[in-house]
This record gives sequence, structure tokens and C-alpha cells, in this order.
Amino acid sequence: MKRIIAITLSAAFATTLFAAAALADGAALYGPCKGCHGADGSKTAMNISPALKGQGADELLTKLKGYKDGTYKIQDKTAPMMAKFVKKLSDEELKTLADHIATF
Ligand code: HEC
Repeated sequence: MKRIIAITLSAAFATTLFAAAALADGAALYGPCKGCHGADGSKTAMNISPALKGQGADELLTKLKGYKDGTYKIQDKTAPMMAKFVKKLSDEELKTLADHIATF
């Protein structure tokens, strides 16, 4: 019985740790974005991008991937700059980022 409790507790602990790590990752990945999009995503970046706050994770992920592969843009001039920020991130990192922004 003691062993079962111990296993259950460590599983719960591992889950909590994992969730915390994922959260920290999203926040860390969003670090470089704050200057333009605001700490909570409510800024209109360079008067071009709509606020990220309020957008859903799927929508954000589609846009981020779109910048990466060149299929999404608002303006010809500024989209390549956004692409620079997402190009070095993996698809998993983009998903973590999108999930994080969707919590704003
Ligand atoms: C130097 C300022 C700047 C930084 C830093 C920046 N962005 Fe942007 N972002 C913009 C601009 C400008 C646009 C509009 C680009 C275009 O013309 O498509 C944009 C567009 C976006 C969009 C599309 C919004 C929409 O609804 O169409 C998303 C999502 C986004 N940025 C996320 C991010 C993330 C995530 C980061 C950090 C990895 C980041 N941005 C860093 C300026 C910035």
C-alpha cells in the first residue's frame, strides 16, 4: 500500500514538474517578442500586427508556421522580419510559444 501511494505521488510530482517546465519554456521563448508585442501580447507591434492577446493557440500556430515557411504575411516589408524570429525555432517550440501566448 505504501508503495502504491509513493508511486502515485511521484507520478503526480513528475506531471507537475513537466507542466512547470513547459510553462517556463513558453515564457522564455516569448522573451524576445515582448519589445514589439508587449509583455502580455496586447501591443500593436509597429502599428502593423494586431494584438496577439485574445487569439487562439491554433490560429497563432498557423501564423507562426506561416512566417517560417513564407505563406503568411500582413505586409511584404515587415513579414520577413517576423520570419527571422521564428525561423530558428522548431515546430515544437512554435507550438509551445503559441500555447503560451494563448494564455494571455
Ligand atoms: C521587432 C518587432 C517584433 C518582434 C521582436 C516580434 N514581432 Fe511579431 N510581428 C511584428 C510585426 C511588425 C508583425 C506584422 C508582420 C507582417 O507584416 O506580417 C508581427 C506579426 C506577428 C504575428 C501575426 C499576428 C497576426 O495576427 O497577424 C505573430 C503571431 C507574431 N508576430 C508573433 C511574434 C512572436 C511569437 C515573436 C517572438 C518570437 C515576435 N512576434 C517578435 C513585430 C515583431
